[in-house]
Amino acid sequence: MTEKSPAAAMRVPLLDLKPQYETIAARTRAAIEAVCASQHFILGAQVKTLEERLAAYTQTRHGIGVSSGTDALLLALMALDIGPGDAVVTSPYTFFATAGTIARTGARPLFCDIEPETFNLSARAVRELIEQQCERRDGALVHRASGTRVKALMPVHLYGQLCAMAPLLALAREAGLAVIEDAAQAIGARDAGGRQAGSFGDIGCFSFFPTKNLGAFGDAGLCVAQDDALAEHLRVLRVHGGKPKYHHAFIGGNFRIDELQAAVLNVKLDYLDDWSRRRGANARLYDSAFAQAGLAESVTVPTALAGFHHIYNQYVIRAHRRDALREWLASCGVGTEIYYPIPLHLQQCFAYLGHRAGEFPESERAALETLALPIYPELAPEQLHYVVERIAAFYAPSA
Ligand SMILES: Cc1ncc(COP(=O)(O)O)c(C=O)c1O
Repeated sequence: MTEKSPAAAMRVPLLDLKPQYETIAARTRAAIEAVCASQHFILGAQVKTLEERLAAYTQTRHGIGVSSGTDALLLALMALDIGPGDAVVTSPYTFFATAGTIARTGARPLFCDIEPETFNLSARAVRELIEQQCERRDGALVHRASGTRVKALMPVHLYGQLCAMAPLLALAREAGLAVIEDAAQAIGARDAGGRQAGSFGDIGCFSFFPTKNLGAFGDAGLCVAQDDALAEHLRVLRVHGGKPKYHHAFIGGNFRIDELQAAVLNVKLDYLDDWSRRRGANARLYDSAFAQAGLAESVTVPTALAGFHHIYNQYVIRAHRRDALREWLASCGVGTEIYYPIPLHLQQCFAYLGHRAGEFPESERAALETLALPIYPELAPEQLHYVVERIAAFYAPSA
């Protein structure tokens, strides 16, 4: 490191939602005001409109607005009748809710390692799990060590890029598993054939947490589904399982999205593709600035799969001496984050699963090397160049 930390010449926060809000303030205030005037706060016209628009946007038949991305996952698992004695295959390198919701139903998360290039669930690892650790018993796929029935596969489209779904879908079909896509970070992401995140599985789950490309003014989420009966089951479970009202054949919960959040999201949806396009442009600027800076020894830029449309909810590099780099960038006024510092199989609350360090080496390596850089749409090119220049200064050989 040649340079001392400067009095930050520029501030580049990891995310600043205020400039975006300024561009839509009048419209969102009017939309909120209209809901206030109607005094209709629960499952009203805004929710219906949002659900229809997002079903069309994601190339699915049904949208079911829910209270958060976490609740979208929980509701999906409940709708597929997953619970004690069952298991769901997923990635250990993801936000906690992915496996947290599986465990909350009483089912067992069955972890498989990730692809090092994309950080997404490895189809090869899933195949190995099925072939080496599971067997067929009375038509069910059973995980031998735990005795649980493997019911579903939950791939995560991490950072805004789709998993390579074809091999995962083939495995699920072969093994008779339902597919729940954790598309919390990936609204609008597409594969090379133009297929949208959420449209591949039985149920797709989205988060509208404020940091997402489509962010609410609080918590909100969505399930999407193609099957009419499954969508109806999701809708009924969203309101405590009551149908007709106060008659409960099933135990659901209160998983409703607020009308106010739906109104905000209906405004923001008009801008989503443009915002994601600008994130993509920022990513390309980073890619070429890193290439020009000759940092390939120290920094690996994210891999975008050929032909895929990555929405760059996060731009995540791998970096040598990641933690020191992060501190340096903080001293230079650059915000960063580590998504995620501890893979889920090593979380204390999952100790009962009996995993050891070293079991999922790619997830563990990613947890040590990854760093998310500022990528939000309103960043100026000078800010992006400043980030790369500060990273280059960190790695410059000592004079
Ligand atoms: C991969 C993933 N799954 C699930 C969730 C949960 O979504 P929410 O925060 O809306 O509950 C998130 C949110 O950060 C996420 O990134």
